[in-house]
Amino acid sequence: MERSYVMLKPGALQRRIVGEIISRFEKKGLTIQAMKMMSIPKETAEHHYGEHKDKPFFADLIGYITSGPVVAMIIAGEDAVRSVRAMCGATKVEEALPGTIRGDFAGATTKNVIHASDAPDTAEREIGIFFEEDEIIEYDAGNTHWVY
Ligand code: CMP
Repeated sequence: MERSYVMLKPGALQRRIVGEIISRFEKKGLTIQAMKMMSIPKETAEHHYGEHKDKPFFADLIGYITSGPVVAMIIAGEDAVRSVRAMCGATKVEEALPGTIRGDFAGATTKNVIHASDAPDTAEREIGIFFEEDEIIEYDAGNTHWVY
């Protein structure tokens, strides 16, 4: 089982679409191994998004992600990183196709409602930023042999 770090951004909570988004991952057959609502400290947000620190949108990105609570999750499954990214759709909203989460819900790239790890090693790094080991539950999801 591969793991992805997934984060529903403040707009997803404010717009009451958290359940709708999580439901898509459940229906796909992916497994939630950890989930919590949290307010991200500015320093943690800057660490998480460190690769973008020289980008012109960095200040807006940090401002947005710290503007309210997020829902942080670990989602597991076969090829989970690629699978979750495909369900999220393109980062730039003008490229996000209908049927994807961003294509259906996002109106601007800075407010693209969801973050998902872009590679398995990135996922492990991001999981380490947001979760302690005792917050993660690996369990037999029961449906696995019906999905894979
Ligand atoms: P996310 O998947 O969370 O990873 C980095 C974030 O930076 C991205 O989603 C967007 O919210 C934001 N981002 C990336 N590219 C741009 C851009 N060109 N303009 C504004 N925001 C961007």
